[in-house]
Amino acid sequence: MRLHDICFASAVLAALVGMAAGLVMGTTQDFTAAPAHAHLNLLGWVSMALMGLYYRGAPPARLGLAWTQVAVGVAGFWIFPVALGAYLVLDAGAAFAFIIAGSVMAIASFVLFAAVVLLDIRARAARFPAYLPESG
Ligand code: HEM
Repeated sequence: MRLHDICFASAVLAALVGMAAGLVMGTTQDFTAAPAHAHLNLLGWVSMALMGLYYRGAPPARLGLAWTQVAVGVAGFWIFPVALGAYLVLDAGAAFAFIIAGSVMAIASFVLFAAVVLLDIRARAARFPAYLPESG
């Protein structure tokens, strides 16, 4: 499986679970889980799909770094909202540690993603010093 396939697979699953949670909230008129729903959709679906699009555009210069970034991202983007949902809906105090762990993973994943993007830009600049946008 390629890197962007992992991103898209995780993203569409997050969208399905996140939207189903939204549907349940709307039909029951119980919005306790709204922050979990929002974070699963925005981190799990939107952010991960955007990362997939990025990796689909061109293979990253540092492939190992990119795999680490996606692995940490998939873990954090799921653990954080699911733990948040358990904490809010089930009043599960034990979930608090997972909220923190998942949030740290989510931030770490974005730090790694920034590194991937900046290193890609540097690698492209080194390979194509006189790079100009294509004129079609
Ligand atoms: C079938 C699709 C969806 C349904 C049925 C749904 C339903 C809901 C409901 C019922 C709420 C609570 C509204 C309230 O508190 O009054 C909500 C909040 C929210 N939703 Fe969704 N939603 C869907 C998809 C999405 C998607 C795709 C995103 C983002 C990409 C999203 C982002 C948010 C955000 C940011 C909030 C506010 C959360 C908060 O106030 O804590 N939703 N949604």
